[in-house]
Amino acid sequence: MAKQIVPAILTDDIKDLKAKLTSVAKLTDWVQVDIMDGNFVNNTSVSLTDLAKLPHSSNISAHLMVLNPEKYLADCKAAGVKRVLVHFKSSKDIGVVLKKAKKMGFQVGLAISPKVFIEQIKKYIALADIILVLGVEPGFGGQKLIPESLNKIKELKRISPKKLIEIDGGVTLENISEISEAGADIFVIGSGIFKTDNIKKTIKQLKRKVNPNLLNLWGIFTIKK
Ligand code: DX5
Repeated sequence: MAKQIVPAILTDDIKDLKAKLTSVAKLTDWVQVDIMDGNFVNNTSVSLTDLAKLPHSSNISAHLMVLNPEKYLADCKAAGVKRVLVHFKSSKDIGVVLKKAKKMGFQVGLAISPKVFIEQIKKYIALADIILVLGVEPGFGGQKLIPESLNKIKELKRISPKKLIEIDGGVTLENISEISEAGADIFVIGSGIFKTDNIKKTIKQLKRKVNPNLLNLWGIFTIKK
């Protein structure tokens, strides 16, 4: 699978959500929308009901930074979400949540914040399609990548080489190659895309950095710049 660049939309303004969805439409296969309840993280966002009102052509991934995420799965389905990312610390039994989400047909990601260690989630890895390593404390964009996150990615790749690993938080053009070499497959990026002056150009550069030898449309190997 080619590595994925996923723009992350963290906002409490439905107009901003609409504008950002439009700005990245057709530029990436997936787009992430951050859903925050003000309890699991100290921030709030647009709702899944807001998202359901907006037409979108991309595959939508919902990063549920909420307590008891199982309560949000029906609204995710109604909003056309295809991938849900639930936090290890968000439920008394995250295994039940992962199984329920799988049964509902979602692609399922298990998210671990910086203070959660691989040892704590080992028995749940098999229940998830993706393991999401937060590169920052969840809830806010524009933070600096916590360097230890790279060790978590390497450790996950070592113990579960076939599992897709996602990184979210603090990813930029400057550090994405190092994160890719550590083993990440999916790169969720907010300010590293939306705060640049040319979103389309930035996404193209990010893609090239993580898929340096990807055949381009004409089947020609791209030269790693
Ligand atoms: C973590 C959120 C991220 C965040 C990423 O708080 O889940 O999606 O918005 O933002 P950047 O890429 O700016 O760190």
